[in-house]
Parts: sequence; C-alpha cells; structure tokens
Amino acid sequence: MIYPVYIYGSPVLRKVAQDITPDYPNLKQLIDDMFETMYVSDGVGLAAPQIGLSIRMFVIDASPWADEDPSLTDFKKCFINAHIVERSGEIIRFNEGCLSIPNIHEDVDRGDRIRMQYVDENFQPHDEVFEGIAARVIQHEHDHLDGMLFTDRLSPIRRQLLKSKLSAISKGKFNASYKYKIAK
Ligand code: NI
Repeated sequence: MIYPVYIYGSPVLRKVAQDITPDYPNLKQLIDDMFETMYVSDGVGLAAPQIGLSIRMFVIDASPWADEDPSLTDFKKCFINAHIVERSGEIIRFNEGCLSIPNIHEDVDRGDRIRMQYVDENFQPHDEVFEGIAARVIQHEHDHLDGMLFTDRLSPIRRQLLKSKLSAISKGKFNASYKYKIAK
C-alpha cells in the first residue's frame, strides 16, 4: 500500500514520536509499505510521522550514493525505536530536501558522525556508529521522530526568507508527483 505523505503544516510532523513494542500490529506490512511509499515518491528516506504515524521508525535506501561511497551499495535499512546517543565529527554542509517540504532544497550543517541505538525489523538491538552520507540521511530522518524538520536547522535569515514559501506549501501550493496530504 502506498501512503500519502503528510506535508509541512501537519501537526503529526511536530510531535515527538514514541517507541513501539514487537507486537505492534502488522509491522512487517508497514515496513514494506514504507519502502514502497518512499520509492514511488523518489525519496531516499521516509520516517513514520511522514505517513501520519507518531512512532520512532524510519526507512532509508542510500544506494543512490553508492558511486560516492561504495559502502552504501546495499544500504537499505529499517530503523525502529531509533535514538541518537552521540553526535560528533566535523560539521559538514550538504544540500537536503524532504518529501514533506516539496520543492525546497537547502544546505544544512550537520556533524559527520553519529552513534545510534535502535532495533531492526526483527527487534534485534543495535548500537552502531554511522559516518558520512549515512550519518547525514539518518540525522534527517531521526529529526522527524523528534518533531523537527530540516528547515528548523537553517539560519534565522534563511528561515525568514522561506517563511512565505513554507506557508504556501502548508496550504497545498506546490507541485508533487506523489500522493500527499495537507493539514485541514
Ligand atoms: Ni524529511
């Protein structure tokens, strides 16, 4: 099933998402559906709040960056109950976009290294360090679980310049080729 993507202005995008337990209903199906929704929407990551579910879960397929970083060739993963426990490394500037904020791309500063605790689709616990592009994409998706969007991380001046565009987006004034949902 393909879910509509919730757009900027939807209250669920501003909530702090909650951990789930292994008995969460139809979890395997939900994971498949999140990947499917991400692929048809041309995204490289999708967090559960973006489909209206306030749970700490996201999917990533970073293989489009395999040319730049061969370690990403098979980087297709689901992260559940994700919590970044350490942020470090050099601050890097990288152009980001988000399916929930169509037509906007901005350079965002983030650290190059994170340590994250999470469980996988089988509820096996992991405590892992990620660097480079993987750390970048994970931090973007992890922000969604804390009710944050990449535009929150821009300078006050950049944010001010984007204000009217973001307000237009929240009212449905944008072009997107995927299914979406704006707040009523
Ligand atoms: Ni996003």
